Formats: sequence, structure tokens, C-alpha cells
Amino acid sequence: MGRIVDYNLTEELEHGIFVSCLVRDLARELNLDEPVVYRLTLAGLLHDIGKLRLANYLYGTEKIVSPLVVEEMKYVRMHSMLSYDILAERGYDDPLILESVRYHHENFDGSGYPANLKGDEIPLGARIIRVCDVFAALTTDRPYRRRFDADEAVRLMIDEIRHFDLKIFLAFERVIHRTGTKYRVRISAGDDEIIRLFGAEREKASEGGPEAYEADGMEPDEEERVLHESDTAPSII
Ligand SMILES: [Fe+2]
Repeated sequence: MGRIVDYNLTEELEHGIFVSCLVRDLARELNLDEPVVYRLTLAGLLHDIGKLRLANYLYGTEKIVSPLVVEEMKYVRMHSMLSYDILAERGYDDPLILESVRYHHENFDGSGYPANLKGDEIPLGARIIRVCDVFAALTTDRPYRRRFDADEAVRLMIDEIRHFDLKIFLAFERVIHRTGTKYRVRISAGDDEIIRLFGAEREKASEGGPEAYEADGMEPDEEERVLHESDTAPSII
């Protein structure tokens, strides 16, 4: 039996960075105050941090899992609570960040987890991350499928619109139609600094990865937005 979950730290970090970029723009589109935008951006970066501990439970020394795949799936659903636990243990005490992370897999119709919250019971930050998280996942390659382009991803999300807060989803559509979803992110660690490109293609059949963006004729400062190091500054990992 193969593992259904194979965590790759780099991929998890990249997912977090992409989601945080999307969350920042969506939160601004929703006219939230800039300090709130900053805190939600941070929550977007850290929302899946619990997967690292989950991987340890599933495959590491803390083996608590049954060999059944269904059991693995059950434990996968623990990751949002584990994310909350890790942040709380690390001293995060901002309820906006903690609650946004804890409930980022709740669906608007009440079918999500961990608490089956419904509608406005779900914290606003969690509803924002939910939309960005699903979009980022759909527009990223997975071992079992190629990534969808941005328009396909939006169509797939419309099919599942009951999972999302419609007002937030419509704001998200405005963001990606107006500004696209391409980001140039500067990541600093000590003296080292790297620039990574993130984003979703707008049209199908693009074989190029992120590296292909420059060849699209896009001016670096025109459509790409830079999420500055100071916008996120993760100190947890
Ligand atoms: Fe998640």
C-alpha cells in the first residue's frame, strides 16, 4: 500500500507562500484594515504547519496509525487542529491567526472539519483562507494529476460553490481577473536571499512552469507583485 500522503517540506512551504500571497490580495479586496490583512497573510503562510507533525504521526516514530487508508484519511483531518496547537505552543496568541488556521477546512455549508461550522459561524479569516487554499491546490501539480489553469480552477470551484462564502469567492474572482495570480516572492534567510515565482496560468496548455513567466512578455514590475520579507517574516520554522 502506498502512502496517500507524502509530505515534502519544500512543497508545503511553497503552498503556504502562494496561499499567503492570495490571502493578502483577497483581504485587501474585501477592504479589511491593513493590520488585519497582515495577520491573515501570516495565517495563510502557516495554515498547514500541522501537516509536519501529522507526517510524524503517520510515518515517523510516533506511529499511531492503522494500516488502513481510511484511517490515514481520518488522521489527515487532524492537521488543522495540529496547526493550531503548534502555533499556540510557539506562543502565538492572536485569536485572528489561531482561529483562521484552526477552521481553514470548514465549508460554508457545514460539511467541513474539524467542527462542522456553517456560514458565518466560520471565522472570516478561515473563509478567506479556504478559497485561496483550494485555488492554490488546484493550480499546483500533484503526483496524481497536472495542475489546472486559473480559469479551470475557478470553474471547478463554482461546481463546489456551496463550500465557499459567495461574497468572498466573488471578491476572489475580481482579484484574479484584475491582477492575475502571479507573484515574485523574495525569501530571505540570514544573508541568503532567493527570488521565487508563484502563480497560476491563465490559459490551458501552457507547458512552462513558473520560469516561463518572463517569456510571456510580462515586465517584472508590471504584473508581478513582490511579497516582501517583512510582510510575512515567519519565525516558526
Ligand atoms: Fe489544510
